[in-house]
Amino acid sequence: MSANIAALLYLVAGVLFIFALRGLSSPATSREGNRYGMIGMAIAVATTLLTHFPSFGGLLMIVIGVAIGGGAGAFIAQRVPMTKMPELVAGFHALVGLAAVLVAAGAFFAPRAFGIGDANEIHAGSLVEMSLGAAIGAITFTGSIIAFLKLSERMTGKPILLPERHTINIMLGVALLALTALFVGTQSGVWLFLLIFASFALGVTLIIPIGGADMPVVVSMLNSYSGWAAAGIGFTLGNLALIITGALVGSSGAILSYIMCKGMNRSFISVILGGFGGEVAGPAGGKETRNVKQGSAEDAAYIMQNAGKIIIVPGYGMAVAQAQHALREMADMLKEEGVDIKYAIHPVAGRMPGHMNVLLAEANVPYDEVFELEDINSEFGQADVAFVIGANDVTNPAAKTDKTSAIYGMPILDVEKAKTVLFLKRGMGSGYAGVENELFFRPNTMMLFGDAKKTVESIVKSLAH
Ligand code: TAP
Repeated sequence: MSANIAALLYLVAGVLFIFALRGLSSPATSREGNRYGMIGMAIAVATTLLTHFPSFGGLLMIVIGVAIGGGAGAFIAQRVPMTKMPELVAGFHALVGLAAVLVAAGAFFAPRAFGIGDANEIHAGSLVEMSLGAAIGAITFTGSIIAFLKLSERMTGKPILLPERHTINIMLGVALLALTALFVGTQSGVWLFLLIFASFALGVTLIIPIGGADMPVVVSMLNSYSGWAAAGIGFTLGNLALIITGALVGSSGAILSYIMCKGMNRSFISVILGGFGGEVAGPAGGKETRNVKQGSAEDAAYIMQNAGKIIIVPGYGMAVAQAQHALREMADMLKEEGVDIKYAIHPVAGRMPGHMNVLLAEANVPYDEVFELEDINSEFGQADVAFVIGANDVTNPAAKTDKTSAIYGMPILDVEKAKTVLFLKRGMGSGYAGVENELFFRPNTMMLFGDAKKTVESIVKSLAH
């Protein structure tokens, strides 16, 4: 295939990736977006294979690699529950990072195969690209592994604060620059490997101090890093499609991180530098001995039947319980009785961006009933009921009042302004950030203990009577 046709096909793939991102920006068009992405990727892979037509042995290796990697990916993706998606994404980012490191190492040992010079004379530009790809890839690799361990609770979610950690990070950053300069200047593999090890260390030191409610921003930032690492490999390999795709992933991840930083009221620069996050963890919940007002499904059904306006606030517990279908059934019954129903979505509700939107879309909740925090927060004051289903941190007023709290500064949904707040959860446990929620003890709060799906199903039964 001629270089011009290949470039044209890569361009087509790039445009399809842009359509994919556009489609993924709304639940209504996300399936279409995914299709564009798949077609674009098929074109990019086919073009690469046809451009560098491999030998039979090479082709066999590629087929075996795709079968193993693709098979494992398909197997894992089919089985992973929605609630474990963020840690899966973090795990996949780690692999992208590692791939970038391995490609850089491969290019260093076999520069001819990559068309970047001879064994002892690799082009200086390629050495810089190699260093960048390897460093960003290595940071992404270890950073994503830490994020995976934290999200899957195999490691404490609380911040691990090393003494002098900012100094350590600055020193590692300076070391990366110095090692890159030494590697480019001498072309000695020792410096490349030291650069990779220093980057592995930086990935760990950047992510371990981040805990509690700030992990979502980190996951999306690592997503962005993995994109830049891929773009770095694209330069080393001279592959236009990889450069475009990497840049798209890198920039869209950075934009998402920026939006989430705004949602969490965190500084974007601090996130990139790993210098923020849960400096003071709040007390773990669950040991509270104060009394709370407890209600039954019948009580809730009665209150809601007599309400004029209800705002539903879904959170991570709804995802765990898979209560979205029962919830929609309940909302439909209430709407038939003339109750105005709206859904309020916090930007970090659940465990991944858009988590709640996806679940509500799966249950066919009409999009025009679903509102973002800034569009609905002022309406809680006029609501008769705030129906909080499996959400906790995103409603916790400690974010507004308690400067020592790990979630301080994060905007929250003002559910307490509703006449009655119904909390559906299994017990008095705290949320992801481990901070106790004062709202449980307020006089206008009623706790409905139990699995959210079962509780909603009981409410539906009561409404039917
Ligand atoms: P959380 O604050 O984590 O609270 C979820 C609540 O659901 C828990 O308090 C739990 O209480 C309850 N729950 C669990 N299983 C349940 C079940 N089967 N039935 C009923 N309730 C159940 O969730 P949130 O309010 O959605 O806040 C999200 C948190 O996760 C934030 O701190 C956010 O920063 C963090 N986070 C978000 C993301 C993204 S991108 N969205 C990624 C990582 C972390 P019980 O144990 O008492 O039932």
